[in-house]
Amino acid sequence: MLALFLILVALTSYFLVRLRQQRSMFKNLPGPPHHAIWGHFLIMREIASTLPPDATPQLFAHLMRERYGLGDFFYLDLWPLAPPQLVIAHPELATQIVHKMNLPKESAVMQKWTGPILGDKSMVSANGHDWFIARKSFTPGFQPRKLLEHIPMIVDEALAFAGVLREHSARNDIFRMEDLGAKMIFNISAWVILGMKCNAQRGDDEFLELFRKQAALAPQDFWSRYLYDVSPRRYYRKWSNGRALDRYVGRLVDQRVESGPTAISSEKAIYYAIDDAIVTSRSLNKTIQPATSIDKYTRDMLIASVKTLIFAGHDTSASTLCYSYAALSKYPQVLHTVREEHNAVFGTDPSAAANFLRNDPNLVNNLPYTLAVIKEALRLWPPTGVSLRRGQPDQTLFADGKEWPTYPFAVLVNNCATMRREDLFKDAERFYPERHLITDPTDPYFVPRDAWRPFEKGPRMCLGQTLALMQLKIALVMTVRTFDFEIVYEEGTFMYQVLDVTAKPSLGLPTRVKLVE
Ligand code: HEM
Repeated sequence: MLALFLILVALTSYFLVRLRQQRSMFKNLPGPPHHAIWGHFLIMREIASTLPPDATPQLFAHLMRERYGLGDFFYLDLWPLAPPQLVIAHPELATQIVHKMNLPKESAVMQKWTGPILGDKSMVSANGHDWFIARKSFTPGFQPRKLLEHIPMIVDEALAFAGVLREHSARNDIFRMEDLGAKMIFNISAWVILGMKCNAQRGDDEFLELFRKQAALAPQDFWSRYLYDVSPRRYYRKWSNGRALDRYVGRLVDQRVESGPTAISSEKAIYYAIDDAIVTSRSLNKTIQPATSIDKYTRDMLIASVKTLIFAGHDTSASTLCYSYAALSKYPQVLHTVREEHNAVFGTDPSAAANFLRNDPNLVNNLPYTLAVIKEALRLWPPTGVSLRRGQPDQTLFADGKEWPTYPFAVLVNNCATMRREDLFKDAERFYPERHLITDPTDPYFVPRDAWRPFEKGPRMCLGQTLALMQLKIALVMTVRTFDFEIVYEEGTFMYQVLDVTAKPSLGLPTRVKLVE
């Protein structure tokens, strides 16, 4: 009994000393009002209460800056529920973190968010050698020149998507646009990455189902992203679904290694991203392997990367498509200008666009206004609006003429907050694609350098940016002149971004489509 009492006293004393240490760390650091016991916990709770419970926390920093008149960066004391944080909301400071210092990803925390789906070695959360090998191996498959070769297939998938929309227009029903968009993008991703034809748009696809099941087990609100999952049942399900997904992707990787173009060496063979990755990883690997096998490290890297690429790609792009449709349905003048651009590039018959694109894939680069619409959607509703880095003892942030510590903080580069700053984006809350076309720096709507950053910048920027923009432009070309989009939230509900690994439209964006008269 005495022993138990002593342990309790020791634990309480340790907690109190730690609490004092943590709270005192924030004494001379900029931030919202700080409480000696609660730190910033109550403020965080108050900000969270202004949004629906499932809203993405990536907007918190923006709301906090507005409410407390905070500057370009500030510190947040959320111990013991979340790591102490340095929040960045300015392009120049973000550049210091992700480019000049290139701080490592905060892997331990990120893996709680993405680990169950993507594994510990995912390119998104890995650092050092593991990241370098994965990134270098998959870079060739995402070169713009290479991606242009996939345009005929992207066009086919976009046409199939338009076919599904046509059926909905005939039924005049309300459906979840996010689900349909994700299925189309999933098919495109599986093709570009693995050369694999999936049927997610027209049937149940086992591969997609495995991803979705696993994603449903990821943390769904702010605090549970940092806290440990205490449910053994969920642990078990994550483990067993995860194994099923790994086995499935492992089989695909093995097939590609054993009988793909890298094994048969024919001049006519088409290389997909996985094949380029096999070749590159072989050239990076010091030990010589036979042409039809790979070592365990490379196999694990390929499995983790395939999962990462497919997941990172299909979720984010599908949400962006939804946000673009939501904006087009709300702003008729923007919709009119997009349609005019498509008429000018592909002629006035919408059904002719597919062949134009198949015959001349470069036309996809001739759509500046469509691109501006997507960019504006990404500015206001970025699917991944933050980059979480780990501060280092020897790295300081230079701001307001002084050096500020990055250690021992988790550094949250909050692009979501940056892209809603009124001093960087005039009329920041307004959906105004024209701002992305302005080249005169004296124009009040000119977008300052590095301020638009939904794909992040620096060495860890999104690997799939070109593919994402390409498939989104094609999906819009194949649909916006054929359909009118109506976003139909019931009384009391509205569109906001929910946290579902990435930031997705609430209720999957309930939509009704009608054929254009
Ligand atoms: C509109 C769609 C997309 C958006 C907004 C987006 C955004 C981002 C952002 C912000 C990051 C950095 C995350 C961080 O720092 O933690 C990132 C990383 C990444 N994205 Fe995307 N992404 C999109 C589509 C894609 C696609 C289509 C692919 C591939 C098929 C992809 C693959 C990746 C990968 C592999 C990384 C990790 C890169 C690294 O750490 O080296 N993304 N993405």
